[in-house]
Amino acid sequence: MSSAEGLPLQRVPKHVAIIMDGNGRWAKAQGLSRLEGHKQGAKRLRDVIQWAKDAGVKQVSLYAFSTENWKRPKLEIAGLMTLLATLLPLEVPKMQEKGARLLILGDISKFPWLARRALDKAVQATKNNTEIDVILCLNYGGQQEIVDGVKSFYASFDDEQTRAKAFSELTPETLYKFLGRDDILPVDLLIRTGGEKRISNFHLWDAAYAELYFTDTNWPAYSEQDLIAALQDFAHRERRFGKTSEQVQAGDRDE
Ligand code: FPP
Repeated sequence: MSSAEGLPLQRVPKHVAIIMDGNGRWAKAQGLSRLEGHKQGAKRLRDVIQWAKDAGVKQVSLYAFSTENWKRPKLEIAGLMTLLATLLPLEVPKMQEKGARLLILGDISKFPWLARRALDKAVQATKNNTEIDVILCLNYGGQQEIVDGVKSFYASFDDEQTRAKAFSELTPETLYKFLGRDDILPVDLLIRTGGEKRISNFHLWDAAYAELYFTDTNWPAYSEQDLIAALQDFAHRERRFGKTSEQVQAGDRDE
């Protein structure tokens, strides 16, 4: 039985995005290396997929490596890449059991070959699973994603005249189609662990209307109760998408 029971299903976010912060501080407090913090963080990542699935969440996206994380010490970057290459193959059978499909958001072309191979294999092996999507955000940055979308839009025209006309008529809805997020639902709830209160370039487009939730718990110590608390909090939010509370309560959001 899941402790998520009691949450009305229509109030469960479909897409939960998590900034898994606090691995380093958690490790320091335990007298451990930063890499040990990331290792423990990777274990929580596995747990959170199960907890989210039990709660009825359909997609979980996890900020595992940002476009800015290349600025970290080389040894820490190498450690993260090694973690990815060694732990991911062990996760695949567990993802199959859970019916979890792995998707990647971000450009992994600069990742070491072993990490890329592990990712490609895991994506292939889990592609037909339908219970929950696990979206690993790797070398991902929201600003870069939007820049790439603009470039794709530009490149989609053969002649200058059509391009100029389309550009003058460009809307957010049109540009969104070029962001490469076809399989990805809008983020409903964005959680950041580790006490900081910022978005750090994660899911910038969807941050427009995602509900934000910040917790002081460091990621390696994150528990099912922490996730349930965030889901409970979300269930009590009123999402207005620019409308008035009265309009929302009258149920006309989709008119
Ligand atoms: C933030 O904590 C965490 C990261 C930048 C990496 C997240 C990685 C994992 C959870 C492990 C799984 C890894 C992969 C690549 C799948 P921090 O290091 O910024 O913590 P601090 O703010 O306390 O220093």
